[in-house]
Amino acid sequence: MTTRTLAEAATAVLTTPDPAEKCRLTRAIAADWAEGRIVEVGACPPPDRPARPEKPRLLPFKDMPRRSYGGDRGRISLIHALAHIELNAIDLGWDIVARFTSHELPRRFYDDWVRVALDEARHFEMLDDLLNRLGSRYGDLPAHDGLWQAAEKTADDPMARLAVVPMTLEARGLDTTPATIDKLSRNGDTLTPPALEIIFNDEIHHVAAGVRWFTFLAERRNQDAGTAFHAWMNDRYPAGLKPPFNHDARAKARFPRHWYETLARK
Ligand SMILES: [Fe+2]
Ligand SMILES: [Fe+2]
Repeated sequence: MTTRTLAEAATAVLTTPDPAEKCRLTRAIAADWAEGRIVEVGACPPPDRPARPEKPRLLPFKDMPRRSYGGDRGRISLIHALAHIELNAIDLGWDIVARFTSHELPRRFYDDWVRVALDEARHFEMLDDLLNRLGSRYGDLPAHDGLWQAAEKTADDPMARLAVVPMTLEARGLDTTPATIDKLSRNGDTLTPPALEIIFNDEIHHVAAGVRWFTFLAERRNQDAGTAFHAWMNDRYPAGLKPPFNHDARAKARFPRHWYETLARK
C-alpha cells in the first residue's frame, strides 16, 4: 500500500469494512507514521460513517438483549459488546485524525490519536480472540450504534468530539471496568479479567489525551477549559454523567474532578 498522507491513510481504514483488515491496516499505518514513511498529515475528508462488516446487525439501544454475567452465554454477550465498542474505537481514533486537519494541530496531536487507534485495534483483537476461545466470533450477536451517533453529533468541532468521546464515553469505561472485572473474577473467569486490565490501563491514556488536547484547544481559543467543557457538554451531552465515578483513574488521566463531578446526574 502506498499512502501519501496520514489523513488518506486514516480514511483508508475508515472505508475498510473487515475488522481484521482494519486492525492490520492500523498497525501498518501506525508503524509508517512512527518510522517516518508517512510524514505529512495532509487533508482527506473521512466518510460520515465508517465501513463495517455485514454482521453484526445494528439495533437501536433499547432493543438490545439484556446482558448477563453468568455462564458462557453471558460471557460471550459481554465480550461481544466490548469488542463492538473497541471496533468503533478504532474508527473513532482514525476519524479524529482525518476530520480535524484544518485546525492546524501539532504533530503530537496526531501521534496521540494514531497511538489510540493502535491500542484499540489490539483491544479488539484480544476480545475477538476470547470470543473464538468460547466458540464464538465478532458478528455473532447484534450490537448497537450509540458510539457512532456520538461521533456524528460532534463532527463539527474537535472540542465537541474530545468532550463527548474520550472525556465522556471512554472515561465512563474507567468508571465501570473495575466492577466488570470483579464480577467476572467472582464467576471464576480467569481469561477475560487480564484482558480487561490491559484495556483499563490503556484507556487511562486515551482519556488523558482527551483532557490534554481539549485543554490545548481551549487555551488557544482564550477560553477557560473547565468552563468550555461544561458549555460543550450542555450543548452535546445534556443528559449529564452517570455516577459513581472512578476518581482515582480519572485523576491518573489528569481529569480535574470539578469538571466532571458537577455534571453528575441527580
Ligand atoms: Fe479500547
Ligand atoms: Fe480508548
